Amino acid sequence: MKYVLFTCCAFSLLFAHQPAPGAEYKILAWNDLGMHCYNSSFRDLAVLPPYNTLWAQVIRVGNPPQIVTGGITVTYSFPDNTYSVGKSDFWQYENKLFGVNLAANIGLTGKGLSGRMDLHGDHFVAEGIPLTEYRDSAPTIAYPYQIAQIVVRNSTTNAVLATLQTVAPVSSEMHCDRCHYDGGVENIATGRVETNILTLHDKENDDEYATPLMQQRPVLCAKCHASNALGTSGIAGLPNLSNAIHDAHKDKVPQTMDGCYFCHPGPNTKCLRGVMATRHGMDCIDCHGNMERVAKNTSPWLNEPRCDSAACHGTGYAQSAPLYRMSKGHGGIYCAGCHDSPHAIAPSRESNDSLKFITLQNRTGSLSNCLVCHASLPNRTGPHGVAPRGYPLSPGIYLPLLNKETP
Ligand code: HEC
Ligand code: HEC
Ligand code: HEC
Ligand code: HEC
Ligand code: HEC
Ligand code: HEC
Repeated sequence: MKYVLFTCCAFSLLFAHQPAPGAEYKILAWNDLGMHCYNSSFRDLAVLPPYNTLWAQVIRVGNPPQIVTGGITVTYSFPDNTYSVGKSDFWQYENKLFGVNLAANIGLTGKGLSGRMDLHGDHFVAEGIPLTEYRDSAPTIAYPYQIAQIVVRNSTTNAVLATLQTVAPVSSEMHCDRCHYDGGVENIATGRVETNILTLHDKENDDEYATPLMQQRPVLCAKCHASNALGTSGIAGLPNLSNAIHDAHKDKVPQTMDGCYFCHPGPNTKCLRGVMATRHGMDCIDCHGNMERVAKNTSPWLNEPRCDSAACHGTGYAQSAPLYRMSKGHGGIYCAGCHDSPHAIAPSRESNDSLKFITLQNRTGSLSNCLVCHASLPNRTGPHGVAPRGYPLSPGIYLPLLNKETP
């Protein structure tokens, strides 16, 4: 008996995470952040480089469903965004800013605008894609909700097992120009917003260091001000970049979402587009607090609002990691696989964000159709006690509505 059990387990261990012939596969894919912001020019200064990160999980439909990690290749591409040189001047300044020489259209981690996603335990990642907000078909019109195409193939046969489109949000809409224009703050007028900022920084901190920033261009702010986003430790004793920038501006912008949109993308992009904003009227300050509170974050980027905090959804929706983007729930599926990126919690205002939910379950909103992954309707509750529900997966395929509760 013991022996039988053992072979049974060994058998499933060997085959459980490999593609099986004839099986049906689903891919969930999302961007790790709700928005990635980069500078529109790197000639004078860099706050953040072009750097998007896509995640994906592959599931074999079954009873029970299984997360697949072996025997498959996952690739990403941007059908209408195949190059970045010419859309951004990053490749003229990457050496001075980051001390690296990058091939055209290759980002800081070696990723291009298409390629393979890397296996990280139970999911696949393409980290640091040097994406811009400009499509090939309209290279001068900002289009912040870029569409990535994710494809899963059987590594042996190369047969396509599943495809999905997901949004890679990216924007350079940082309106420092609303105040640091020529003749704006301190009446400085050097001809460019960036040089106005550097000149002001030199004026304000003239006794602190030998070489003025204007003479060190292009300047990476995170070289001196630590940044967890870029993994720089900065100069000891200086405030980290997030603390510095929010502190210096805490009484310069309105204490509202419009104030945050002075620097975060932005009045046009409106990066906050998820259901909590669209249906429940929440804004930046409801979750993050005001400028002063953000300025006091002891661990920027790593210490963020939590879904499971007592004031929000509570312990019934416990995160499995300090960050939402690292947390998983039901069956080892990442929260963002079912609910999407932060600030884009489904259903989002942007129809591009909804594309994948429509592909997967023939409707917008969080992934709530059990039949996306389960071969038949489970007879027990699923994620956070959600009752079993199933509905037609695509307009062409009819499956009876199995649950009257389905909204
Ligand atoms: C609402 C107007 C406004 C916006 C928007 C704004 N700034 Fe400022 N900024 C100011 C003012 C006013 C000061 C002067 C602060 C002081 O001296 O107390 C300042 C100061 C600064 C300083 C100098 C701080 C110091 O003490 O050394 C830097 C650097 C700076 N801003 C960068 C930026 C960047 C980068 C952006 C965009 C991401 C930005 N600012 C957006 C108004 C603004
Ligand atoms: C060569 C090092 C260096 C670089 C590069 C640098 N800074 Fe600074 N920054 C400083 C120093 C030094 C101070 C003064 C800190 C203090 O007084 O505590 C400062 C202060 C500031 C402040 C004021 C902080 C406050 O609390 O009022 C802001 C805002 C700021 N820097 C933003 C930036 C931005 C934005 C960039 C990139 C354009 C940048 N810095 C690049 C060294 C640097
Ligand atoms: C003057 C420009 C400016 C304004 C106004 C501003 N931010 Fe920021 N914010 C930045 C910059 C620049 C960064 C990136 C810092 C870095 O790379 O570490 C940032 C990063 C952040 C981060 C991530 C890092 C962290 O501290 O956890 C959060 C969260 C954030 N901002 C929230 C807000 C909120 C909420 C508001 C409005 C209440 C706001 N910001 C207003 C410029 C601004
Ligand atoms: C419903 C709550 C909520 C609202 C509203 C909200 N945020 Fe966030 N924000 C979060 C959470 C949660 C995270 C951390 C995500 C994680 O842990 O992976 C976050 C992270 C961030 C980050 C860090 C980068 C990232 O995507 O993780 C920035 C910057 C930020 N928020 C800015 C803003 C700004 C600006 C607004 C308003 C325009 C805003 N947030 C509105 C909940 C919110
Ligand atoms: C397998 C998909 C799946 C996973 C994984 C998942 N959820 Fe959910 N979640 C759902 C469904 C379905 C609902 C019901 C709401 C709906 O139908 O839109 C829900 C509801 C919620 C709600 C309540 C929303 C409301 O309307 O009150 C929160 C909060 C939540 N989930 C957070 C999380 C967090 C945090 C994680 C990760 C730890 C997570 N979820 C993982 C599918 C999932
Ligand atoms: C995104 C894919 C996905 C969706 C959607 C999903 N599940 Fe699951 N479910 C899984 C995975 C993966 C497991 C883990 C199977 C294992 O333990 O090996 C699982 C396990 C389960 C289990 C325990 C194992 C079993 O099959 O009895 C139940 C019960 C369950 N899910 C119910 C639900 C219900 C109800 C829904 C819809 C409200 C749902 N699930 C939606 C992926 C999913």
